[in-house]
Amino acid sequence: MIDFSLTDEQKQLQQLARDFARKEIMPIAEEYDRREEMPWQVVEKAHQVGLLNVAIPEHAGGLGLGMVDECIIGEELAYGCMGIFTILMASELGITPILVGGTEEQQQRFLGPLVEKPALAAFALSEPNNGSDAAGMHTTAVLDGDEWVINGTKMWISNGGEAAVTVVFATTERGGGHKATVALVVPKDAPGFTYNKIKHKMGQRASLTSELVFENVRVPKENQLGGLGDGFKIAMKTLDKTRIPVAAGSVGVARRALDESVKYSKEREAFGKPISSFQALQFKMADMAMGIETGRLMYLKAAWLVDQGLPHGYESAIAKAYCSDMAFDAANEAIQIHGGYGYVGEYPVEKLLRDVKLNQIYEGTNEIQRVVISRALLRD
Ligand code: CAA
Ligand code: FAD
Repeated sequence: MIDFSLTDEQKQLQQLARDFARKEIMPIAEEYDRREEMPWQVVEKAHQVGLLNVAIPEHAGGLGLGMVDECIIGEELAYGCMGIFTILMASELGITPILVGGTEEQQQRFLGPLVEKPALAAFALSEPNNGSDAAGMHTTAVLDGDEWVINGTKMWISNGGEAAVTVVFATTERGGGHKATVALVVPKDAPGFTYNKIKHKMGQRASLTSELVFENVRVPKENQLGGLGDGFKIAMKTLDKTRIPVAAGSVGVARRALDESVKYSKEREAFGKPISSFQALQFKMADMAMGIETGRLMYLKAAWLVDQGLPHGYESAIAKAYCSDMAFDAANEAIQIHGGYGYVGEYPVEKLLRDVKLNQIYEGTNEIQRVVISRALLRD
């Protein structure tokens, strides 16, 4: 039997996240986007109410929430602001390789402190010259006695520099491909680790994005996740999971685009009647609703597979690509429904489009999702 209902706990989580978005995120979203600043107070409040780093398992002191739970929360938070959602989502992304490749001792050592106080994690895979071709990374890790020495630059890292722990993927032999990669946990205060904030992003400007620079950064061997040569696979297994909350967040943005469109179309008049009476606009809103319903089913199915311990990479790629493309279209149509007013910052729909464009690019571009999907089709 298929059961589409949420458990009582999930309904409570959804309500908690919905209230949090309305009270703590929506009133400040526009201001922090304009100032290009990260609202730390939201991170602190999310920690207080139990919406931060929710995937940390119970044995490390966390809530140990599943992927369905994380996605239900994600849809609500992104409804409030996709940029602020990215701060929290990127922290879950930073935690996930430690869950995928770390021992129980490493999980307790690195994740325990993230439970005790409001703190973030980050995931550093992309580089100035290697984004989609992640295995071609140039950042090096050389073993010197009992320590790894890291040199190189990571690019576009969400929460980069502010995170208490950053999982850094590096190569032990340039040109060695994925078999020469390693995943290392780097603390914020490691000597030689610096960062430069990237300014003037198109959207999601409340989320911090940084270039990370590693100059002879030393971390003990005990900070290595998994075995030598496992780095790339740990990154891929992580992304197979964390692309699903991006899908959920995209549905949140699309839902906001629809709600704003319904509201505005009932208020605005043209030719002596509300513009909501024009079938051309009604059909745009009907299309948005179809996309939202379809997208939610997709992300929930992919998340359910994760929670069941079943293969999920194919469904995760489908959900990420479909939901982010759908949400981009929904935000675009919301601007159309708002006419000229939609094109300026007076209404929230202009920000929705700027924000959601990124969902088609990060966590693997939607072309790369289609690479993952088509490889699975042809392999099977
Ligand atoms: N799970 C486990 N293993 C996997 C895997 C997966 N999902 N995908 C590949 N592998 C394994 C393969 O089996 C292969 O192993 P063997 O050699 O032992 O058989 C090995 O990894 C290499 O696989 P490929 O040859 O398929 O690798 P590739 O170099 O062709 O790359 C790719 C495949 C899908 C394009 C991959 O590079 C990719 O996903 N690129 C996109 C990177 C990305 O998503 N970056 C996101 C950064 S994070 C971010 O953006 C966050 C944010 O904004 C907040
Ligand atoms: P490229 O790989 O150079 O791609 C350029 C174009 O070529 C794209 O359209 C791409 O789809 C296409 N393309 C490339 N290869 C193929 C192919 N095989 N088939 C078809 N088309 C292809 N990364 C992290 O590691 N951690 C983060 O926290 C993080 N946060 C980010 C936050 C922001 C605001 C941004 C903008 C990016 C972030 N990223 C992060 C990086 C992001 O994951 C990369 O930008 C993305 O993976 C694409 O890499 P690229 O920019 O190098 O583009």
